[in-house]
Amino acid sequence: MAASRICDASQVMNLYSAVHEGVRRSRIAIAIVILVVLGCFFAFFISQPIFQIGSVSWQSPERVNMVKADIVAILNEHVRELTEKLRLIEQGNAQKHKAGPFGTVKASRTSPTVVPDESVNPRLAKILDQVAVRKELIVAIANSHVKSMLEIWFNSIKKVGITNYLVVALDNEIAEFCKSNDVPVYQRDPDESIDSIARTAVTPAVSGLKFRILREFLQMGYSVIISDVDIVILQNPFNHLYRDSDVESMTDGHDNNTAYGYNDMFDDPAYGPTRYVFTRRIYVYNCGFVYIRPTFPSIELLDRVTDRLVREPKLWDQVVFNEELFHPSHPGWASCCQENNGFLSIYEQ
Ligand SMILES: *[C@@H]1O[C@H](CO)[C@@H](O)[C@H](O)[C@H]1NC(C)=O
Repeated sequence: MAASRICDASQVMNLYSAVHEGVRRSRIAIAIVILVVLGCFFAFFISQPIFQIGSVSWQSPERVNMVKADIVAILNEHVRELTEKLRLIEQGNAQKHKAGPFGTVKASRTSPTVVPDESVNPRLAKILDQVAVRKELIVAIANSHVKSMLEIWFNSIKKVGITNYLVVALDNEIAEFCKSNDVPVYQRDPDESIDSIARTAVTPAVSGLKFRILREFLQMGYSVIISDVDIVILQNPFNHLYRDSDVESMTDGHDNNTAYGYNDMFDDPAYGPTRYVFTRRIYVYNCGFVYIRPTFPSIELLDRVTDRLVREPKLWDQVVFNEELFHPSHPGWASCCQENNGFLSIYEQ
C-alpha cells in the first residue's frame, strides 16, 4: 500500500508540474504578445500629433523619434528576456537543480506519465473508466484456442476478489464466453492486420499481438499488467508492485544470482595471465506477466517490439522484448530509451 501511495503522489506531482509549467509557458507567451501589441500601439500613436496644447504640438519630430526608439529598445529587451526564459523552460528541469553533496543525489527511476489521450479509442476509454482501479488493470488477450486456459485464469482472479481486469477478445466466441461468465471484455474493432494473426493458433504470434494492442491502454494513461492466460493468480499483484520503474517484470531466473545478476567467469588457459574473462549475466525477463506504466520509454519499447515482430513474425516476442530492453547501444542499434527495469522479488510471497 505504501508503494501505491508513493506512486499516486508522484503522478500527482508530475501532473502538477506539467500543469504549472503549461501555465508558466502560456503566461510568458501572453506577455510577449501584449508587449508586441503595446509596442505597435505606442509606435502608431506617438507618430500622430495627438497630444496638443492649443494649436502647438508639444512634440518635435526629433523628440518623437527618440521616444519611439526608446520604446522599441525596451520592448526588444523584454522580448529577448522572455524568449530566453521560454527556451529555458522548454529545455526542461535539468537546469533547475544543482547536484547536492555526496550521498544525496538520486536519479529518478520513474519517467513522467504521458498526458492521457482518450480520443485514440473512446469506446475502450469508457470500458477502462469502469474497470480500472486507480488507473490500473490486468489485461489478458485471448482467442478461442485458449478458452479453457482463460477460464482458469479469470476464475483465479475472481477468487482473489480482483475487479480491475479485462479480457481483450480476439474473436466472437471469446467475447460471448466472457459475457456469459460476467467477465469484463473488450472486443476490438476489426483490423485485418491484427485479425489475421489473432485467428491463428500459434501462441508466439498471438502473444506478440499484446504489445500492439496494449499501446492504446498506455496512450490513454492506464498502467497495465499484461498477463498471459497460462497464469494462475493467487494474490492481488497490485499489492506487490513498487511502481518506481517504467517496467516491472517477472524473471526466468530461479535464484538470487540468475534473477538479479551474477558474474560468470570464462577460463581459457591458453591465454596465460589473461585467461579469465568475465561476463555479467542475467536471466531473461519473462514477458508473460509484466507491469507497464504509461510513459514515453514504455510506449517506445512497445513500438519497437511491435515493429520488429511485424517485420519478422517468426521471432519469439520474449526474445525481442529482452533484446530491446537490454542490448546497449552499438553501431546500427540505438538502445531503447533509458528504459528503467525492475524485478519483483522472486521470494516475496
Ligand atoms: C536473496 O536476496 C535477498 C534480498 O535480495 C536476501 O534477503 C536473501 O537472503 C538472498 N537469498 C540467498 C539464498 O542468498
